[in-house]
Amino acid sequence: MIRINPDMSDDQLLRLFDKGTLNQWTPDAIEWGDLDRITPELRHAIAQVLTPVYLGEQTAMYGVSAVLPDMLSHGHHEEALYLSSMGMDEARHFRNLHKLYHVFQEEPVTRHRIPEMFRYHARLLSHKDSTEWIWGILISDLFAKHFYGGLYQRYPDTIVGRLSRRTLKDEARHQAFSERYLEKVLPTMDSEHKAQLIGLRDDLFRTMDSIGTRLNDSMLMLDWEPEKFLHDLYLDTERWVQRLGIEPGN
Ligand SMILES: [Fe+2]
Ligand SMILES: [Fe+2]
Repeated sequence: MIRINPDMSDDQLLRLFDKGTLNQWTPDAIEWGDLDRITPELRHAIAQVLTPVYLGEQTAMYGVSAVLPDMLSHGHHEEALYLSSMGMDEARHFRNLHKLYHVFQEEPVTRHRIPEMFRYHARLLSHKDSTEWIWGILISDLFAKHFYGGLYQRYPDTIVGRLSRRTLKDEARHQAFSERYLEKVLPTMDSEHKAQLIGLRDDLFRTMDSIGTRLNDSMLMLDWEPEKFLHDLYLDTERWVQRLGIEPGN
């Protein structure tokens, strides 16, 4: 699994790793002080709708650590290198949201109120296969992209907007990694395995649909239709399915 001097020739992944290293940041990079720009009612609604994202950041930390040993044992050293920096990014996102809840003096939604949220993560965590993991992580990154993007659009000049904008830059690198990894691996996969990726996508979207229903009232408080959110996310995911050629039978 560990090699003294492994071959590392995927320049695209090495550049991405360097970019990730150069772009590390801490919560101090953001101005946290102007809370009153967001009303207490909106703070409460934001705290509710951020819950699946908050959980997703933790699942991403877990996912990275679950995939790393497999990457190393298959000689994918550039991927393992990149994933190490991605783990730091996801840990930072988790830490920032943790701080945001504290600053808002709000709590995430309880497990009891949105059981589907845990089903979504259990579905991801059930995978042992790296490609399914990376595909699941990509869908979760797209989910985060649409969420942070929507929050930035709505509250650009607030702590929520600033945090979202900065986080989006990290998520863009994660998508670039998933794209690179999947475009290398997918041509070696048979159609049955590819169909499993489509199955995973469909399962995750079914669960997200239920989560959207549970969060409907809070989403509407933010002028956000859950159906519209999911529709946009689905179209984005579909673009990736087409681009990567993950159609059943391909
Ligand atoms: Fe993240
Ligand atoms: Fe991510």
